[in-house]
Amino acid sequence: MYRSKITGLGKYVPENIVTNDDLSKLMDTNDAWIQERTGIKERRHIKKGDGNSTAVMGVKAAQIAIERAKINKDEIELIVFATLSPDYYFPGCGVQVQDLLGLPTIPAIDIRNQCSGFVYALSVADQYIKTGMYKNVLVIGSENQSGGLDLTTRGRSVSVIFGDGAGAVVVSRSENDNQGILSTHMHSEGVHAKELALIGPNTGHWVPLLIEESATVKDEDITYYPYMNGQFVFKNAVTRFSEVILEGLAKNDMNKEDIDMLIPHQANLRISQFVQKKFGLSNDQVFNNIQKYGNTTAASIPIALTEAWEEGKIKEGDNVVLAAFGSGFTWASAVIKW
Ligand code: ACO
Repeated sequence: MYRSKITGLGKYVPENIVTNDDLSKLMDTNDAWIQERTGIKERRHIKKGDGNSTAVMGVKAAQIAIERAKINKDEIELIVFATLSPDYYFPGCGVQVQDLLGLPTIPAIDIRNQCSGFVYALSVADQYIKTGMYKNVLVIGSENQSGGLDLTTRGRSVSVIFGDGAGAVVVSRSENDNQGILSTHMHSEGVHAKELALIGPNTGHWVPLLIEESATVKDEDITYYPYMNGQFVFKNAVTRFSEVILEGLAKNDMNKEDIDMLIPHQANLRISQFVQKKFGLSNDQVFNNIQKYGNTTAASIPIALTEAWEEGKIKEGDNVVLAAFGSGFTWASAVIKW
């Protein structure tokens, strides 16, 4: 068995900054409500015509990660792409990345696990490297949330939270057995699938998408915008985050004092603060950037990991824990010796 490690990281966010005040011009909301409930000050939205899409942003983040990994792009043997907002219904964004990066005809796997998507994707990469099948895997989390949000008062409890962006890592075979991804842990609980979901249009249920037609649709029939049972999600998130972090620590004979850096999925600053308090971690041991980017779902952990690393907050030998919870419900963690 081999060990895998992250050898390169990159992020990309669109230039267009959307502040809470900007949103209050589109819907009945305000900066104080959003900051108090979520900690978010601003987020990025793709601007029509700026050339960005989920796949394109993923490619931009990936190019930086590949350069930092100091490998030739042709050395990548597998792409794993996590998103809930793909450019096409099918095929997934992975094959677009293969094309846009000009890679050989390597396999591309798409992961549909929303906020846990990046940790799930990392786990897939880790398994392929552990078994010796591949040496370099490109893992991307990218989201174009803004294209699918209800930016009216009707959608305000969901749409103020989410933002666009991408993060990527190169995962490579580690030469040092004591360094790299120590373990990954994943869970799902589909009984709660509809508590945080975008149900349709889907192959069994097409709803009117034209504005003239949708004007006649009742609010409860609108399934093409995300629905979130906010308080139920919040309660489950704090429990599952804690459980899956403890599971990762136990697997590696660590306890909470051993965590040098916790990168939680940037769901909501209040969720991260709850977890931080529960584990007795200092501000230096938890990285948050939701204030600037909102919740970028599958992109949030790789964006945060990249920023923490760029700011020198992750050093060689550190114990880094990634933890995520989201739609599905799904939740996951990874314990890494950096
Ligand atoms: N601006 C102003 N008022 C609003 C807004 C808004 N954007 N959204 C909702 N309100 C109103 C509601 O209509 C409600 O009004 P009412 O009392 O007159 O009915 C009031 O504010 C309170 O609404 P609640 O939904 O009860 O507010 P709550 O305190 O639960 O906060 C929130 C909502 C922030 C969504 C919270 O439930 C939460 O953070 N949940 C977790 C959600 C989350 O983190 N999701 C992401 C994790 S999973 C993933 O990443 C996919």
